[in-house]
Amino acid sequence: MVSRVIPVDPFDLVIFGATGDLARRKILPSLYRRFFGGQVPDEARIIGVARTELNDEQFREQVAEALKEFVDESKQSAEQIAAFLRCLHYVTIDATGETGWETLKALVRPDLVQAFYFSVAPELFGALADRLHNYGIAQADARIVVEKPFGRDLVSARALNDTLAAHFTESQIYRIDHYLGKETVQNLMAVRFANILFEPLWNAQYVDHVQITVAETVGVGGRGAYYDTSGAMRDMVQNHLMQLLCLIAMEPPYHFDPSAVRDEKLKVIRALDPLGPEDIVRGQYVGPNGASYRDDAGNPDSRTESYVALRCHVANWRWKGIPFYLRTGKKLRARTSEIAVVFKEPPHSIFDDATDWRENMLVIRLQPNEGMNLKMMIKEPGPGGMRLVQVPLDMSFADALGEEGADMPDAYERLIMDVIRGNQTLFMRGDEVEAAWAWTDPIIAGWEAAKTRPQPYDAGSSGPEDALMLMHRDGRRWREIRE
Ligand code: BG6
Repeated sequence: MVSRVIPVDPFDLVIFGATGDLARRKILPSLYRRFFGGQVPDEARIIGVARTELNDEQFREQVAEALKEFVDESKQSAEQIAAFLRCLHYVTIDATGETGWETLKALVRPDLVQAFYFSVAPELFGALADRLHNYGIAQADARIVVEKPFGRDLVSARALNDTLAAHFTESQIYRIDHYLGKETVQNLMAVRFANILFEPLWNAQYVDHVQITVAETVGVGGRGAYYDTSGAMRDMVQNHLMQLLCLIAMEPPYHFDPSAVRDEKLKVIRALDPLGPEDIVRGQYVGPNGASYRDDAGNPDSRTESYVALRCHVANWRWKGIPFYLRTGKKLRARTSEIAVVFKEPPHSIFDDATDWRENMLVIRLQPNEGMNLKMMIKEPGPGGMRLVQVPLDMSFADALGEEGADMPDAYERLIMDVIRGNQTLFMRGDEVEAAWAWTDPIIAGWEAAKTRPQPYDAGSSGPEDALMLMHRDGRRWREIRE
């Protein structure tokens, strides 16, 4: 199956923080892949901006190196890379200084789509926004792209929103949560709203519970200093896991457009019941299969969690009483992200020998091996009477869609193209981010006030014992963490 590529209009994209890690690993390789795929036109200008003194040629050399490292071999074409590099320019600017802005202004064409990517520390957002405005660089419909972390609590998120709002309207601001750019995450909406099969069952009457798992095998090594001030709650739950929860729990939007989708997601966040201490388990990894969290974080007394498991409720008509279990952690036994919707038992069994009875379950695998698996009961073959057995209706997107389907674009490819197209559906609105912080703030404040310590769990395990108990107490169990 060949996917359609619709080129975007010529544009100018300015990347502040162009020599940084995110630009090197994600933004520039993603732009190249879209160029290779025929979506970014030759006339596009990609203008790198950072404090480092570089000229265009030196910047292009740096980017060429990054492409070698981060672009798959199948897309390494000397000719295409050379053409892509010709789109690149560089301007040396210190965000808080006054030099270089006129040079930037001369490069950004006023009659094209303009996007300004703030791949810098949030403390610099204000300085950048002021100067883009004061030097008359950003047009009235210019787009501003900002990364997470969008604040570390409600107060700081509000302050960032206010900073941006001083010069830009909400319709110009693209807050990235890269999970929303993942193909399979977008597929959650397709599965729910493009099929009639699931929606009638998608409620408290038929669903027993939902499990959302984002398990990583990596630790925090290399990012320890940042991570230790953040922890899994701020780094993963407040954004990525809550977005997944929203897509699973939200009402059907009236249309697939930015306001409609984001209105519905916001309602889910606002409907979340507050959590009590019994609803949540924090963990921190310890050796022996590698360094402990505290070594990685460089903080021998750290109380920061590298794992969170929690049980929450969406207090509305659809989900009354149905628990949503969320968990995420570093240094777990496998890298896997999935959502399992576990259905209730049929109201009455007509079979005598139902000893092997298991619930229907829809598992949506987000990564790796993206696909869906619907677990169903059938009769076990053979003459031995009516015995039941659970079998999977298993679909991997790669098998179902062929080679092209297996070539999943990186989340950033989709998101950056959406910025250029002016489509905000997969970006977080300011009120959504604030609502998410309003829900997580009291949880974090509770830990801080009680000075609780996360429970240790072995690196390479499935997480702390108490996380298992969180579900056992409810007569349920987590799905195994495996690839
Ligand atoms: C980032 C977090 O937002 O997402 C990281 O800051 C985490 O800690 C990463 O590792 C996970 O993203 P992915 O795409 O690898 O699942």
